[in-house]
Amino acid sequence: MAESERLEMRGIVKRFPGVVANDGVDFTARAGEIHALLGENGAGKTTLMRVLYGIYQPDEGEIFLDGRAIQVRSPAEALALGIGMVHQHFRLVPTLSVEENVILGLREGLFGNLRRVRERLAAIARDYGLEVDPRAKVWELSVGEQQRVEILKALYRRVQILIMDEPTSVLTPQEVKQLFSTLRSLVEAGLTVIFITHKLDEVLEVSDRVTVLRKGKVVATLPTAEADKPSLARMMVGREVVFRLERGPAKLGEKLLEVRDLQALNDRGLPAIRGLSFELYGGEILGVAGVAGNGQKELVEVLTGLRKATKGRVLLFGKDLTNRSPKEIAAAGVAHIPEERLRRGLVPEMSVAENLVLKSYRDPPFARGPFLDQRVIISHAERAIAAYQIMTPSYNTPAKLLSGGNIQRLILARELSGQPRLIIAAHPTYGLDVGATEQIRGLLLRQRELGAGVLLISEDLEEILSLSDQILVLFAGQAMGLLEAEEAELEELGLLMAGAGRRRESSKG
Ligand SMILES: Nc1ncnc2c1ncn2[C@@H]1O[C@H](COP(=O)(O)OP(=O)(O)OP(=O)(O)O)[C@@H](O)[C@H]1O
Ligand SMILES: [Mg+2]
Repeated sequence: MAESERLEMRGIVKRFPGVVANDGVDFTARAGEIHALLGENGAGKTTLMRVLYGIYQPDEGEIFLDGRAIQVRSPAEALALGIGMVHQHFRLVPTLSVEENVILGLREGLFGNLRRVRERLAAIARDYGLEVDPRAKVWELSVGEQQRVEILKALYRRVQILIMDEPTSVLTPQEVKQLFSTLRSLVEAGLTVIFITHKLDEVLEVSDRVTVLRKGKVVATLPTAEADKPSLARMMVGREVVFRLERGPAKLGEKLLEVRDLQALNDRGLPAIRGLSFELYGGEILGVAGVAGNGQKELVEVLTGLRKATKGRVLLFGKDLTNRSPKEIAAAGVAHIPEERLRRGLVPEMSVAENLVLKSYRDPPFARGPFLDQRVIISHAERAIAAYQIMTPSYNTPAKLLSGGNIQRLILARELSGQPRLIIAAHPTYGLDVGATEQIRGLLLRQRELGAGVLLISEDLEEILSLSDQILVLFAGQAMGLLEAEEAELEELGLLMAGAGRRRESSKG
């Protein structure tokens, strides 16, 4: 190999009870390259990077940095060696300012020459396109800005290797563009970026080399220029992947949901939904398109009882259920695939089996009188694990130990098992690999054919266009338009999402 490797991980083995997460992995990365790490849910990507960042100790294997063997016993040691990691769930302190977060834990934080800190921060931000107000409190920032703070934090510590674990799944398309240009300027300055993602388009767009992991083993490392979408998908999944979905015509049923002149506030007490009205019928998928932060999150929360409407009505199955509790709304037949899956979707300490009956364990067949029937709960879990291909050592494993994508499958298995009439799906394929994405989209379409209604919130326009019957575009808490999906054009959608373009009325009036 002509270019020299900055990082070399050799024969890394990491076992957890019941799984070999990394099974003899060889991985290298060079100065000045973006190296994509690709693999299905549970393939071992996060684990490998946590080994590099000192969160886990490998059971076997060696790590070399610039040809020198190193041991990384903790993240602090990793940082001292010039290795930084931006996690999928940020670890900033919300009540502190940007600059306070950056210097947290550093000596400068104690002996505070704040002026020098600010100058260096401003220089880094300028050089790499990481604009963010240094005095703003972190809770005031958008997700994209918080990510920039995480990157700034690592760069401030002079890392040479920056690991990003699925950085784009929380970003809007514009923010993704900006992130990619930041990553490019980092490698032009000689850094190494390791970039974990499921999105093949992103691998092809931004990386220089790509390593594919499957079931804890390396399938291949190759220059991105030699890869294309079908070949990467095949390496990842071990079979051909279809990118097209079978989608029959909708058989419109009765009206399931009617939202009338709805208003609600966001967490900061500002108007987030500002007079929204729409209807959703059985047998229909209504896609809600929009750039994050335009009221989608608040809309979902109001519809599922997690946030109060300040005005307007929510009629579900012909009954006024405005501002009822999440429990009442779920009992009426509404399933919820939440956006913040770890926080809202499950109880991390409880087992897979328990999480699968979280909403129904008090009812037959899981309960008989005051007693839980463990046998029924376990056989239910075993069926769900098989049907939804949840990768877990056993039904007894605490849910928090599952990989990101498998947590998602667990939630879907639970939410779709009760034969819901209406499914509110927020970003249902975030963080899922291509195979699982294909499977989940198929499941939503099957629910639609069974007569359920689906409200699909997604920033992935390809997903919205391929699944929806109608598309509602949200901008600043209002409906910019309601389009028939078959006639909708990407460009028109983009304009409406940016608040431009003219409103169009629904065909259903
Ligand atoms: N702390 C842990 N304890 C037990 N098992 C774990 C732990 N961390 C990960 N695992 C298991 O190791 C395997 C690999 O998980 P890992 O998180 O590395 O996958 P991943 O490739 O990052 O997947 P995803 O794309 O879903 O995030 C999974 O089967 C997971 O359940
Ligand atoms: Mg992961």
